[in-house]
Amino acid sequence: MIYNIAIDGPAGAGKSTIAKRVAKEFSFIYVDTGAMYRAMAYYLLQQNVDGNDSQEIASKCEGADISIEYRNGEQIVLLNGENVNAYLRTEEVGNMASVSSANPSVRARLLDLQRSLAASQSVVMDGRDIGTTILPNAEVKIYLTASSATRARRRYKELIEKGEECNIEDIQKDIEERDQRDMNREISPLRQAEDAVLVDSSEMTIDEVVSAIENIFHEKTGK
Ligand code: DC
Repeated sequence: MIYNIAIDGPAGAGKSTIAKRVAKEFSFIYVDTGAMYRAMAYYLLQQNVDGNDSQEIASKCEGADISIEYRNGEQIVLLNGENVNAYLRTEEVGNMASVSSANPSVRARLLDLQRSLAASQSVVMDGRDIGTTILPNAEVKIYLTASSATRARRRYKELIEKGEECNIEDIQKDIEERDQRDMNREISPLRQAEDAVLVDSSEMTIDEVVSAIENIFHEKTGK
């Protein structure tokens, strides 16, 4: 039996941390779809594409061949055959990804890849439209969120620990702008699927969120 767990939610809600942990508990594959959109954004930045020019994004994205493979359990994103994981986590790439992921041609290029990964094995897949568009028949759908203040605080702590200078107000503003873009775009906007379970992690620890999702899985599947 193949199981699909879809986890959607806004930036900084902790989706990837939680999805990785849940995947490990169930021995499923973790699929990070945001990394695929980031790889596309990285390619578009390299090509000096103007983020405001949707026609240019649509035509240039055809040159990006994105695939993934797993090395020691870690998802590696290959852009035209090259491992680009090291370049995907910058604010520049994140901001471009938020803009370019609203483009229908970009989404169309990544849809088949995401569906075929989930068709052949049990996955925990995180993103923005997994429960609504990519895997409408997923056995378990979670909408994971947290207040923008909590998400900004978590991101701030992460950056400070990395030794990066930053300002918490700017981070919160950036998060709120990204939410607006992700929730209000025409194609595949971020929203909770009707049959998704809402988990607000603002006042929860990682362990509490993981066990809440495990319980939802047991309830939904009887496993
Ligand atoms: O989750 P993330 O921050 O790595 O995602 C980067 C951007 O990609 C984000 O602004 C929204 C977009 N994205 C999307 O539109 N659909 C997905 N399934 C995953 C990410």
